[in-house]
Amino acid sequence: MVFQVVAKPLTSYPCDALVVGFVEPPGKLEGQLASLDRAMGRRLSLSLQEEGFTGRRGHTTLLHTGRAAPRRIIAIGLGPEREVGPEAFRTAAAAAMRRAADLKLQHVAFAPLRERDARLRLYTQARVEGIILGAYRFERYRSEQGRPVATVSLLAADRTQAKVVERGLADGKAFGEATTLARDLVNEPPNVMTPTRMAERAAEFGKQPGLRVTSLGAGGLTRLGMNALLGVGRGSAEEARLIVMDYAPAHQRRSIALVGKGVTFDSGGLDIKTADQMVSMKSDMAGAAAVMAVMSAVPQMIKHLRVVGIMAAVENLIGPTAMKPGDIIKAMNGKTIEITNTDAEGRLALADAIAYAAGQRVNEIIDIATLTGGAEVALGPFAAAVMGTDQKIIDALRDAGEEAGERLWQLPLYEEYREAMKSKIADLRNSSGRWGSAEKGGAFLREFTGGKPWVHLDIAPVAFLERDEGTGPYRSMGGATGFGVRTLLTYLRRLDARR
Ligand code: BES
Ligand code: MN
Ligand code: ZN
Repeated sequence: MVFQVVAKPLTSYPCDALVVGFVEPPGKLEGQLASLDRAMGRRLSLSLQEEGFTGRRGHTTLLHTGRAAPRRIIAIGLGPEREVGPEAFRTAAAAAMRRAADLKLQHVAFAPLRERDARLRLYTQARVEGIILGAYRFERYRSEQGRPVATVSLLAADRTQAKVVERGLADGKAFGEATTLARDLVNEPPNVMTPTRMAERAAEFGKQPGLRVTSLGAGGLTRLGMNALLGVGRGSAEEARLIVMDYAPAHQRRSIALVGKGVTFDSGGLDIKTADQMVSMKSDMAGAAAVMAVMSAVPQMIKHLRVVGIMAAVENLIGPTAMKPGDIIKAMNGKTIEITNTDAEGRLALADAIAYAAGQRVNEIIDIATLTGGAEVALGPFAAAVMGTDQKIIDALRDAGEEAGERLWQLPLYEEYREAMKSKIADLRNSSGRWGSAEKGGAFLREFTGGKPWVHLDIAPVAFLERDEGTGPYRSMGGATGFGVRTLLTYLRRLDARR
């Protein structure tokens, strides 16, 4: 898909479809749109009325202009005016692109936005994200492929506006393509996207200036005493890996560790899952995929922050040497863990990865993981859970998520959850009953943070969706969402810009 910014009037712009956004309820047509409507003999305003177009967010109506420039109009709802922000444009653009793909259109143009300056840039970014995410397909294993939109034109009112739109386009491409990368990593089948393959993919990004990529296999993990991560991989023929992507620019104002759960397939282990629960478990590395995608974009975007991406990549299977309920293992930080459920493997893999992060002289640790079905039960496919020991970071992440169109809902870490994770015969147990399981998972992870400011994102509800679930540009796509990438990039970009 090729993007271009053009400062030309929409009234005579040749394209298969012109996308025009309307608030709810749509007002009278103004400016260039009013001219186009007159040139069409009022067909635009009349059809919008007759189709009962309300401007509801994400709803589309298709109109034929009877002309070649533009040939069609895709009217798209932005929702109520006072709620219009980046997410309205992101969702609308995604819906327009899905409509365009259904119609097999080749050249789609977007009408200019009314905003100026910073807001125009941000809304253009959101729009471009929506365009990229709405057009996303994972078809590399299909013989029969769709015909994607080839060209997207972003129309600008004049040259000055065009300059700002260009910047928004660059931002939107960076955010959109990073999200797409995360989606691709997750959508790849588990026989392809193994821990070793993840390490290879990470290494491919190591050529960027300032970024150093390393990975530890069985030998390195054993030397560091990462027996919790190794324990998860003991039932699999695939070697477990700790992948580190360390971005260290010359001037560093702060340093942040991003830790991702990379369970490339979660069978549950000997506490095996049912077929229904297991079928989507290639997505259990979505946290690590988000970290890798963020790290791939960081060198281009971040100037004054050290960002260390740490991914615990491992497969949870049931081979003859698999860990068993009742086993006790000692994690890297010296704490002993009684395995009470082999399906609570994510927190084991993360325990060592977080302890490793705590040893990296960073100011804060953010982990992202498809950790619990409990978070999914609590929130449905509409938000991720967030918890942690630093309310400022939690608030900043929620705020970044708001701009990025990704909801984070905070859960508590009461003392009772910590109590519940204590074992009678070891320091900790890795599971403890069904209630409060997302919070207990968080309480378990906290034991490995070495007291560093830490925030945990449980993306199990939103990382991988069935068709027609969720909100925003995810709706109707199915498969991996890339959740977390845009929130983390927004968070880092804001931190980097702060003086
Ligand atoms: N990978 C799962 C969590 C999950 C569930 C992710 C649904 C995405 C969708 C995790 O490893 C798991 O199995 N968690 C258990 C923990 C329990 C045994 C304490 C769960 O939530 O049931
Ligand atoms: Mn599990
Ligand atoms: Zn898991």
